[in-house]
Amino acid sequence: MRASQAINIADLRRMARRRLPPVIFDYIDGGAEDEVTLRANERAFAEVTFRPRQCVETPNPDLRTTVLGTTIDLPFLLAPLGFCRMFYPRGESVAAGQAHAAGTAYILSTFSGQRLEDVRADAPGPLWYQLYVPGGRAVAEATIARVRAAGYSALVVTIDTPVSGMRERDIRRGAGPLLKGGIGALPHLWQFATHPRWVMGYVGDGAPRVFPNVELPGVGAMPCGDTSVLLAQTNVTWKDLGWIRDAWRGPIIVKGVHTGDVARQAVDAGADAVVVSNHGGRQLDGVAASIRALPEVVAAVGDGVDVLMDGGIRRGADIIKARCLGARAVLIGRAYGWALGAAGGPGVARAIDILKADLVRTLRLLGCASVQELDGSFVEVPVEWRKRSGL
Ligand SMILES: Cc1cc2nc3c(=O)[nH]c(=O)nc-3n(C[C@H](O)[C@H](O)[C@H](O)COP(=O)(O)O)c2cc1C
Repeated sequence: MRASQAINIADLRRMARRRLPPVIFDYIDGGAEDEVTLRANERAFAEVTFRPRQCVETPNPDLRTTVLGTTIDLPFLLAPLGFCRMFYPRGESVAAGQAHAAGTAYILSTFSGQRLEDVRADAPGPLWYQLYVPGGRAVAEATIARVRAAGYSALVVTIDTPVSGMRERDIRRGAGPLLKGGIGALPHLWQFATHPRWVMGYVGDGAPRVFPNVELPGVGAMPCGDTSVLLAQTNVTWKDLGWIRDAWRGPIIVKGVHTGDVARQAVDAGADAVVVSNHGGRQLDGVAASIRALPEVVAAVGDGVDVLMDGGIRRGADIIKARCLGARAVLIGRAYGWALGAAGGPGVARAIDILKADLVRTLRLLGCASVQELDGSFVEVPVEWRKRSGL
């Protein structure tokens, strides 16, 4: 199957499963523990139902939205995904280039295999940088200076990783031993023998094994490690937001809030925007679906702060529901991660096109001429969702 033949995001996921060694596919696809939150993120969208308006003219729905004062052509951005260079050669540049071509923004993860300056050169459109702080404050400040010099427009600070979630699929597939190398990796090597096309791509890309945007003193670029080890070094507190803000001196987006209280704390600590996110169900298993947490956060922060959300977006209709419930825009994660792993640039382009076509069709079926005009009157949510929210 070619990317152009994919009808929906699930098709791209199936293609990724075929092309990628299981350790890579499961790293993208999996969640924490019993994957309850991972499933809830997707399923909760079905609980939001539409209230369409018929007999309205909507010849050419307008998909543009404004986030942090910048207008983008689509109401979705590409979320930060670590290790993209293992999904596909130069994966971060490939995905950022497609985001740019579609008129939206790409968010580069700290755990990127490519230099942030190289991604900038390959994608001249809006780019945000997602900050983790492995290596501590001085290392992060040096990275922030590079991010600013390279012209990234916003810093996304992820706050939901005081330790890594328990990602059992990564353990079963041998992610840790494979990244470490040596004898412990031997039982897991079969995965590469069965996926020679991926191996050729990875080797042709220089078999990257470092994070070049995290320069450790005396070591150089930080070696790639197992996420369970990496994320244990990335806890940030509200106090850290202070020095991050001083170092960055630009818009800050706090990613990983679930409740109104935490959203307000983030704003008090200087956030210009928040992302309602549970890390795609990869961290604390058992938290509510992001779409369910969204109305509470929107009600808590009020109009002056942009609220974004991510988690479980697989169709354009999901994006419309999020917008109706108060999200200015959403981030897509696996929807483009699978596509990148399935077919590189054409895969990501196809994922974006699928979601774009969904958005246009859904707006027309809803009887709404633009993303900006969407509001709560176009949807119904279960009564229990109204608790703690402004609905
Ligand atoms: C493979 C993968 C890697 C991720 N890496 C990061 C990361 O480096 N930094 C971060 O803030 N979030 C990371 N996330 C979380 C995403 O940014 C986003 O919150 C999540 O994927 C949204 O859920 P979805 O995949 O269901 O769309 C990652 C998610 C996945 C699937």
